[in-house]
Amino acid sequence: MYLNFYMLDEKPFNATPDPRFLFLTPAHREALAQLVYGAQENKGFLVLTGEVGTGKTTLLHTLLQRLDSSTPVAFVMNSLLPFDGLLEYMLEDFGIRAAGQSSAQRLVALNHFLIERRRAGQTAVLILDEAQNLAPETLEQVRLLSNFETPTDKLLQILLVGQPELKLKLQLPGLRQLRQRIGLHAAIRPLTPEETRDYIQSRLRVAGAPDLRLFTDHAVGRIAEYTGGIPRLVNIVCDHCLLVGYAEQRRRIEGDIVEQAIEYLEEGRRPSRARGFTWQRGRPVLRWVLGGLGAAFVGGAGFLVLGSDTLGGAWGTVFEHVLNIARGARDLVAR
Ligand SMILES: Nc1ncnc2c1ncn2[C@@H]1O[C@H](COP(=O)(O)OP(=O)(O)OP(=O)(O)O)[C@@H](O)[C@H]1O
Ligand SMILES: [Mg+2]
Repeated sequence: MYLNFYMLDEKPFNATPDPRFLFLTPAHREALAQLVYGAQENKGFLVLTGEVGTGKTTLLHTLLQRLDSSTPVAFVMNSLLPFDGLLEYMLEDFGIRAAGQSSAQRLVALNHFLIERRRAGQTAVLILDEAQNLAPETLEQVRLLSNFETPTDKLLQILLVGQPELKLKLQLPGLRQLRQRIGLHAAIRPLTPEETRDYIQSRLRVAGAPDLRLFTDHAVGRIAEYTGGIPRLVNIVCDHCLLVGYAEQRRRIEGDIVEQAIEYLEEGRRPSRARGFTWQRGRPVLRWVLGGLGAAFVGGAGFLVLGSDTLGGAWGTVFEHVLNIARGARDLVAR
């Protein structure tokens, strides 16, 4: 909908870890280099931590691209699985067929696979995303997987990725054996205000924006302040800014548009020019969840519904649509 108005080829602020939109700060590059090195050099357990929405999963997708294409990788994103489920998922990802039904049979099949890969000069990599949710018992069983080894080499490289709570979990006394095996700990942090500006411009560039200064300095400063440099939040706010800017027919996103977008996100309320839309205030975290889900809906499919860039009833169309997204998000959360 706003694509034509801002002459964009695609939406710049989708909440997906699309590697085409990858933006690497020096700190990101450092973390990525550490992980590639750790994975190639058999550094034992690798750990990557960062606050919610700072870009851990995005970085993992980049890591996968940087690893030798023949490296067998299992990428487990569902950290609520018990160990058996995790093992099953892992075997599937490694392409190990006919592993048997019992855990013991599966572990034997995994061991054979790892030895075979080693003979072919490869070290398999297991990536556990959202690892802060793994139960301590599951983490302990994951540690046992690192016992697959030859007298000279580890056969499986394990990367644990998660929010800062993961670090705390790894401090549990029951996990000290795992802790001792951590060979490398990389961390990513939120963007600085300057990086936030570059991040926004980088996304606009990939999306084909003719004017990379679509957001004024003042607008960017306010976005950086409000989001604390968390990329996911930057995406959500910027996407809302484009919606509001389009509805207001403003070619440039200035500070007042950002304020309206924030007001909408905070209050779930149509900004001043549009009337008749109210939504009950929620707790801040819930509002962010709803906002995030809303943005995901927008990014995923929602706007397919709206192909036209005609301005007739633009506010009404925009907010009716956003209201539907919010309702969907609310229903999901309420489930
Ligand atoms: N370096 C980056 N380059 C481009 N976009 C990014 C980057 N980091 C984050 N993003 C954007 O922010 C969104 C959230 O990032 P991501 O899902 O990687 O965060 P996360 O740290 O894994 O969050 P969570 O803790 O919730 O799992 C991504 O979908 C992507 O759109
Ligand atoms: Mg993630």
